[in-house]
Amino acid sequence: MYFAASWRPLNGSEPRRAPLRPGRLKFAQGALSGLIPNGLSWPVMRTRSLALLCRSLVSFLIVSVPVAAPSGLAIAQAVPPSNPQLAAPQLNARVDALLKKMTLDEKIGQLAQFSAGFATGPNASNQHFDDMVAKGQVGSFLNVAGADATNHYQHIAMEKTRLHIPLIFGLDVIHGHHTTFPIPLAVAASFDPAMAGIVAHTGAVEARADGVPWVFSPMVDIARDPRWGRIVESNGEDPYLGSVMARAWVRGYQQGDLSKPDSVAVSVKHFAAYGAAIAGRDYNATDMSQITLRQVYLKPYQAAVEEGAATMMSSFNSINGIPATADPLTLTQILRKEWGFNGFVVSDWGAVAELVNHSLGDGPTVARKALEAGLDMDMEGNLFGTVIAAQVRSGKIPESVVDEAVRRILRVKFVLGLFDHPYTTPGPAYDATPERRALARKVADETLVLLKNDPVEAVGTLLPLSGKIKTVALIGPLADNQRDLLGAWSAGDPKYVVTLRKALEERLGADHVLYAYGCGLLSGHDEEVLNNVNFGGSAAANGTNAVSDDDKPIAEAVETAKKADVAMRALGESANWMEGEASSRVHLGFTGNQEKLLEAVAATGKPIILVVLAGRPLEIKWAGQHVPAILEAWSPGVEGGHAIADILFGDVNPSGKLPASLPRAVGQEPLYYAQMPTGRPAHGDLSHMPANSLEKFMSRYVDEENSALYPFGWGLSYTRFAYSTPTLSRQTVPLKEVSASGHAPVITVGVDVRNTGSVAGTEVVQLYIRIPNVSVEQPVRELKGFTRVTLAPGESKHVEFPLGFDELNFYNVDLRQVIEATTYNVWVGGSSLATAETSFQVVE
Ligand code: BGC
Repeated sequence: MYFAASWRPLNGSEPRRAPLRPGRLKFAQGALSGLIPNGLSWPVMRTRSLALLCRSLVSFLIVSVPVAAPSGLAIAQAVPPSNPQLAAPQLNARVDALLKKMTLDEKIGQLAQFSAGFATGPNASNQHFDDMVAKGQVGSFLNVAGADATNHYQHIAMEKTRLHIPLIFGLDVIHGHHTTFPIPLAVAASFDPAMAGIVAHTGAVEARADGVPWVFSPMVDIARDPRWGRIVESNGEDPYLGSVMARAWVRGYQQGDLSKPDSVAVSVKHFAAYGAAIAGRDYNATDMSQITLRQVYLKPYQAAVEEGAATMMSSFNSINGIPATADPLTLTQILRKEWGFNGFVVSDWGAVAELVNHSLGDGPTVARKALEAGLDMDMEGNLFGTVIAAQVRSGKIPESVVDEAVRRILRVKFVLGLFDHPYTTPGPAYDATPERRALARKVADETLVLLKNDPVEAVGTLLPLSGKIKTVALIGPLADNQRDLLGAWSAGDPKYVVTLRKALEERLGADHVLYAYGCGLLSGHDEEVLNNVNFGGSAAANGTNAVSDDDKPIAEAVETAKKADVAMRALGESANWMEGEASSRVHLGFTGNQEKLLEAVAATGKPIILVVLAGRPLEIKWAGQHVPAILEAWSPGVEGGHAIADILFGDVNPSGKLPASLPRAVGQEPLYYAQMPTGRPAHGDLSHMPANSLEKFMSRYVDEENSALYPFGWGLSYTRFAYSTPTLSRQTVPLKEVSASGHAPVITVGVDVRNTGSVAGTEVVQLYIRIPNVSVEQPVRELKGFTRVTLAPGESKHVEFPLGFDELNFYNVDLRQVIEATTYNVWVGGSSLATAETSFQVVE
């Protein structure tokens, strides 16, 4: 840890070796060289002279080594501040000058945030906010958007408070603001950081126009369990992909310069390890080893911090018994001391007050614990605002702790320019212009994943649709559903959404698209409820989907299918009710009567194309076995219909890859490719029940295969790609050299990728490694590089993946990032099943 923490980006916005290692940063040459005692090189430091270096540093840094720290952390305290803008001396002088003028109550007001709009949690305070703002009791609002609404409160803050400190407005801008892009999980499926950049920047521009300079995004929780509804907001299961995308989101929002009028401050969430909620149940505890925490779950947050993230949001869960909202290890030791984070941390909604339910104490106690642990702002909880002051006055909480939190918040307000430009000029009403639509379509085109495209007898592959297809039967509750295509956490207006029905009609003519609803997303009373609920900021329920729950609509759909050349099905999840927060599911199949509908239409014998619209990997085993063509379309956003049609008709060759594995059965969850080895690895054919002890006594299920139905990294194209045997720039690497390499590569893996089909296509070339025979066992495969390569038919390109300390290290039992002498296995290919193989050695 100490080593990684000592390396900083030179310029947070520049990828170091793009495009091969997207999101990598330049090494700050000499950033800490002055701190290295003469004659010591980094490898020597890492392996032998840690104690010496600690002593040297401590002697002039005058820092105390925290009790809970893993060894070596004194060095981490020398880490430079993560965001240079927030560290600027002039800025800090302004902050200090203001702080000196503030009363204790004014300071505490800065720590309080309230929701003054719609609720994105169980209940919202309904207070007299005008008065409170005038009295300086509010530092921030969430869920207030629009120039008029934000200006209203800002005028009070600027004109009626003694010190004229502006409010900061925060909002969940998750995948675009008014222009709704595909859900973040889909954006991750592009394996293209540029796409995250487009979504983030467009969201930033639109949020700013609405008076919102602070977004509660990106969500970078590693999500390995699709029972957890919030996987929709994540980058999926992999820490490498998650880190690359985390950097890209932060860059897109903040542009490396928070003072730009079209930049917004991010709030990276949810810190930490929220994605590992036990059993996939939202708000549940997480429990994991420190090695897994650091090597898997913390990686994307750290990447976001290195990219200059201005704020973080603590998570609802506890980690190994300590609630994250009051966890000194994550909030102070790791975040600030090891990573140098110099922004502020906001709690999640009501999470400070919820510490009482975690049995951390009564209100005043939990508020104190959270503040002292390193939490700066209380979101919609009102505890900081009511119980901190008395404890400061009684001497229980040092005022310096409050001062530090206020400083962190004021810095961000200053850097965003809120003191100088507190108001938002009202602009024209939002319109989904062709330019915005073009961006949304471009992103969506890259996010769709072709899971299956098997030939059908006497027809061949169904996709792309051939000119011979004149009439399509379009069936399913999501075929013409504007609201649900937006996905969870969307402020977009459903009226702008292009559905699949609309897109097909544009291409084929309305007469050639035979539409049948087929069934609801749910059935019976549940369907009625579904059509009348609206949670949080989701687009309003339209109440128009009600459909009778008998077999009649299914029978009609079957008749419709019989009249067409091909039956296209649009099935999946309700965005409002089944995706996102508080949407954990234990059944991951199609809901309501959708599976019944699917099987009934399949029985007609018509060729079927299934379009899955969902915010999580669903369990689609029957479809995987019986439906020849399956397209994973996620919740694709405002241009979803067009993008799906782009792929179906072959105008765009699919290039998306799964950022999370699709299970065969929910009982496999959490299912992810980077599994640890086992002493009894499963082998042979696991598709049948074990018939003898050799088949039984291995790490397997007796009633299902171990493997994913479609694994991480999987995605087909309309062309084929062939891989050469990978080559290496060298066969061996001295341990000392790689240990000293910092961000610099020490070995390069090369591979030729060739388009052997007849149409142009883009392949996501992926590199995986395994580190066997080291002191802590490592996963059977780990992604360590990827790049998108576009190839004309017959064209071949040489792709290189440079590897260095960053890719090759792991955490040892002392929680240090180390390299050990061993043979590294390497695979390159188009998914986590990649077979083109080589290996190299790290030698003493
Ligand atoms: C969610 C956060 C969100 C916040 C504010 C919480 O319930 O967990 O992700 O940013 O509400 O809406």
